[in-house]
Amino acid sequence: MSVYQATASAPVNIACIKYWGKRDTKLILPTNSSLSVTLDQDHLRSTTTSRADPSFEKDRLWLNGQEEEIKEGGRLATCIKEVKRLRREVEEKNPNEPKLSTYAVHIASKNNFPTAAGLASSASGFAALVSSLAALYALPASPSQLSLIARQGSGSACRSLFGGYVAWEMGSSPDGSDSLAIEVAPQSHWPDIHALICVVSDDKKGTSSTSGMQRTVETSTLLQHRIKHVVPERMKAIKEAILVRDFDSFARITMQDSNQFHAVALDTDPPIFYMNDVSRSIIALIVEYNRVSIENGGKIKAAYTYDAGPNAVIYAPKENLKEIISLIVKYFPQAEPFKDPFGLFGAQGVGSG
Ligand code: PMV
Repeated sequence: MSVYQATASAPVNIACIKYWGKRDTKLILPTNSSLSVTLDQDHLRSTTTSRADPSFEKDRLWLNGQEEEIKEGGRLATCIKEVKRLRREVEEKNPNEPKLSTYAVHIASKNNFPTAAGLASSASGFAALVSSLAALYALPASPSQLSLIARQGSGSACRSLFGGYVAWEMGSSPDGSDSLAIEVAPQSHWPDIHALICVVSDDKKGTSSTSGMQRTVETSTLLQHRIKHVVPERMKAIKEAILVRDFDSFARITMQDSNQFHAVALDTDPPIFYMNDVSRSIIALIVEYNRVSIENGGKIKAAYTYDAGPNAVIYAPKENLKEIISLIVKYFPQAEPFKDPFGLFGAQGVGSG
């Protein structure tokens, strides 16, 4: 008897141009395009195994060993349904193919980092889920096509289908068929950029991205300005910076966009605060570090960015990492760099998964 099983893994990605706001909550269509870097080491990954078997009674999923409910019409169910739909197309074209789309699937996923650490586990999780199902079903689908499905699990997940530098183009079609991830450049194009992750707090975040976005879309006038007048130009400029490996521009845009995302959160009614005092102190440190460099005739040496939580991600060329870590350890003496990969700091190369 044949065993139909496949395993795939996907890494976390960290946005430089932030996705914040949905124009369609069911299809997960964003109010602006976004751009991220996919982290390329083994520390921050989700790995998922999917199995199809005629003896299975229903689709089931385990996350880190705990069974999760697959709610009807929910995001997990939507992703599974969409991948099965593509499998059915394969079976219709090739009648000799086993009818795997009619079997239930069992899916086991694990993160090799603490799910509660405030890092984007849903991005790697849904990307790995869709990739493993696509492998199980031997789908002839490109990463961009699969990103259309991962997007419906968690918006940012669509970007984890690629390594390196990745854009999520918002698209304009009401059915979402052009709201997908594309590769801007592979990791090998600019391998020198590293990400330093500073876990400021591993508390679960106060306002989920789903409810935060909804409230921002409903109440923030700054968001309207951002999506119309700021992000389109920034997307162009940061792509250009990546293509010519211009860290100065890449860093400026990344920091500006993090700042504006948090300004938009503050402009939400009631306001949302994702950063805390330690987050802000890390910003001050990086600003000062860059100021001293520029004053001495140098360039920007590091860029901070923050998602929907207090943890800092610092992008920097490899040559500056040691200096940045020693500065952080000096000003945050409680920091314990490299004690373990999930400790306070982890240096991550960025790039392909
Ligand atoms: O995909 P979600 O729903 O987890 O939202 C992610 C939102 C941010 O991380 C704040 C920004 C981004 O583009 O990843």
